[in-house]
Amino acid sequence: MKVLVLGSGAREHALVKAVAADPEVDAVIAAPGNPGIDATALCVPVDILDGEAVAALARDHDVDLVVVGPEAPLVAGVADVCRSAGFPVLGPSAAAAMLEGSKSFAKEVMAAAEVPTALAHVCTNLAEVESALDALGAPHVVKDDGLAAGKGVLVTESRDEALRHAERCLSKDAGRVVVEEFLDGPEVSVFCISDGTHVVALEPAQDFKRVGDGDTGPNTGGMGAYSPLDWAPADLSDQVVARIAQPTIDEMHRRGTPFVGVLYVGLALTGRGPKVIEFNARFGDPDGHASFARLESPFAQLLFAAATGDLEGFGRLRWSDDHAVVVVIASEGYPAAPRTGAPISGLDAAAEIPGVVVLHAGTRLDEDGVLVSAGGRVLDVLAVGSDLAKARSAAYDAVSLIELEGSHHRTDIALRAERGELVV
Ligand code: AMP
Ligand code: GLY
Repeated sequence: MKVLVLGSGAREHALVKAVAADPEVDAVIAAPGNPGIDATALCVPVDILDGEAVAALARDHDVDLVVVGPEAPLVAGVADVCRSAGFPVLGPSAAAAMLEGSKSFAKEVMAAAEVPTALAHVCTNLAEVESALDALGAPHVVKDDGLAAGKGVLVTESRDEALRHAERCLSKDAGRVVVEEFLDGPEVSVFCISDGTHVVALEPAQDFKRVGDGDTGPNTGGMGAYSPLDWAPADLSDQVVARIAQPTIDEMHRRGTPFVGVLYVGLALTGRGPKVIEFNARFGDPDGHASFARLESPFAQLLFAAATGDLEGFGRLRWSDDHAVVVVIASEGYPAAPRTGAPISGLDAAAEIPGVVVLHAGTRLDEDGVLVSAGGRVLDVLAVGSDLAKARSAAYDAVSLIELEGSHHRTDIALRAERGELVV
């Protein structure tokens, strides 16, 4: 099998590695890829928002499967173009990717499918926002309706701040905001893979969204993750399929826009059961790779089965008993104003630690061939170990060997879980 993976971050680096490890796979092509991916896949500099260019690349290399990593090409309809050109694609159509692309659409589908989620008001002007804030009370949750790269959501006790954020979102063309009930409880990510009809769920992971230790500071794309979650209900993934993913997939099917791809269910485990915080149409970064790092079933065959409507025949997923921890190394100034172009060293020494894989999130080679930072999140250090403490210490040993001037990382990824402080 030949597989084309679209994207250039740590998620795609993890996908490329997992796909390449499948014995059925003889070649992986990545567009555009990154210097880390280049060690495993043939990287081709194609604009992944250009569906025709991607389909031409798939044709040139005669690939058997296209895997779309990030949300932007999905929302732009790249999966539709590749599917029309005859390629099996893991990634929803533009219409189905609206589950991620529009929070108000996701809310409407959840309501129709009776999926448990936060109460919400969709607002198009400030007066509506004010009455929604007053109806729901503090803490206030205000979300930009459209894609905002993880920066569209504000959770605050301050009514003034909530209003200012809403005002900024509303000032965009056709701007809409969703004002939501605050969900209390630990957050969990469950990645559900669907062929449009059937669903399988990966094991839950936990993501660390705030930039600072102790969940302080602004939201980010994710500063670390781990899986499995020993403190969560053992049947959580099954519950998520039964109460959330399957009803959502059925509703999308009923509407004539079947969802083929990864339904990323972001949950809060509240006192009244799991409730959806958000849907995404792709794997998470870094929570996605923390989740599938321990999967023993052949990954490319799983994604191919989903892309070809044959998930039912795939059988139950097999998992190792290991634990996975990811620690993200971010640029100086991330998330507000990341500084890029700083040289990175120590990767080879880090990768020699047993169980460690260093995934490239935002790197490039400069004119002299030196590896430098090229984004806010620069590296995802993934470690797999026989227990959480071993995985954690391997990840942090690797982080300590990596040099990137001004960089920062959280020191408490998976710490409370290791100490047994989490209960639901
Ligand atoms: P989202 O982009 O919808 O995932 O929101 C980003 C982050 O904001 C989430 O990971 C949560 O930490 C927080 N958040 C979003 N919605 C809620 C909610 N209804 N209640 C509590 N926290 C929320
Ligand atoms: N880690 C959160 C995300 O990928 O959206």
